[in-house]
Amino acid sequence: MTSDPSQPPVKAGTVIRNIGQLVTIAQQPIAEATGPLQVISNAALAVHDGMIVWIGSNDLVETMFQQDTGSRADGITIVDAQGVVVTPGFVDSHTHLVFAGDRAEEFHLRRAGVSYGELLAQGHGILTTVNATRSADAETLTKLAVTRLNTMRQYGTTTVEVKTGYGLDKITEETCLRIINNLTAYEASSTREYSQVRVVPTFLGAHVVPPEYRERRSAYVDLIIDEMLPSFAGLARFCDVFCEREAFSLEECRRILIRAKELGYALKIHADQLSPSGGAKLAAELGATSADHLDFAGDADLVAMREAGVVATLLPGCSYTLRSPYPVARRFIDRGLNVALATDFNPGTSYCENMQMMLGLAMSSMGMSLEEALMATTINGARALALQDSIGSIEVGKRCELAFWSIRDYHQIGYHFGINLIQSVLVS
Ligand code: NIG
Ligand code: FE
Repeated sequence: MTSDPSQPPVKAGTVIRNIGQLVTIAQQPIAEATGPLQVISNAALAVHDGMIVWIGSNDLVETMFQQDTGSRADGITIVDAQGVVVTPGFVDSHTHLVFAGDRAEEFHLRRAGVSYGELLAQGHGILTTVNATRSADAETLTKLAVTRLNTMRQYGTTTVEVKTGYGLDKITEETCLRIINNLTAYEASSTREYSQVRVVPTFLGAHVVPPEYRERRSAYVDLIIDEMLPSFAGLARFCDVFCEREAFSLEECRRILIRAKELGYALKIHADQLSPSGGAKLAAELGATSADHLDFAGDADLVAMREAGVVATLLPGCSYTLRSPYPVARRFIDRGLNVALATDFNPGTSYCENMQMMLGLAMSSMGMSLEEALMATTINGARALALQDSIGSIEVGKRCELAFWSIRDYHQIGYHFGINLIQSVLVS
């Protein structure tokens, strides 16, 4: 960081000034910043070619970027934040964004006492969405995904991981992966609105066994290993599996993930969500980037995950929707794990695009402090995508992915709840 006015001018395309509180969540100490979140009051920052190039006091902006005449330096756009809070944009590291239809009916059946696992075992649940997704054309799926992505952005998300998993045949899985890959650049022709959100694609062919393979499940696992994984290697950064009684066994998951790793995918696991399935341990064994859900993971599994550097991604939207106990965040944090929070946006267990809601639930029902929840939704989300060197905090050298809030004190976050506190995001 440059804060000395005697230093040569920093080359900047945009300068954002008059930031009431810049919640940097920096991983390296910043001179003017205080507290675990490294907050700078009355701050400014400069961006060049999408990269943060300077962070400092608002009082230095005139000297550094408006020399001599006091007027705007050539080519620099000055943005006045008008005293509000600025944080890194949210990193939502676990979503199932591409699907058709919804499952409101099941939501209400569950309220009458039918469990998620029962519905899944009876061929409803995920398979209902697979039917709807297979029947939809690519344009419809794209429009649905873009609408959801735009909602996420309005609620402060700037990077989102998106899984397949509702195609479960080679053609539909590939269609969904291509849609996911094109989302970032998508421009809706009628509104000229860009999604403006960074998208990280994940292949989740091992979500459940599709109906046509019900009697020969090992043939479906072979199809994933021999055909889907090799041909999707350039389209997905991660390979994920649903390791669960009603989905894929530990051994099936191991086979799929080992092959994926050989092919260069990074790994994720839906682990120990409905029962102690062994997924967390497998994540540690294979060096997965994250293990997600973890409601039934044992203490020894958590230690193994920490030692292997696996991020623990907790998904409070599922507890809210399924009315199941919330994960106890202290179990994870006290064992030294990096905890990320994500929406798990999907039509079955968490139909919610809003990361502020996850942050609030984590604070109200999972025992997380505001500081922990903010780290979990930003830098630890980035860790869960192996992107911690480029996003997730506001530091010189990182990409510019910012959330502008409508508040002047970040302590309002989680306290003033149920409304959207985000004004806008800036991804440049
Ligand atoms: O993360 N558990 C597996 N996958 C999703 C649910 C998907 C669905 O129900 O459609 C989850 O909870
Ligand atoms: Fe999920």
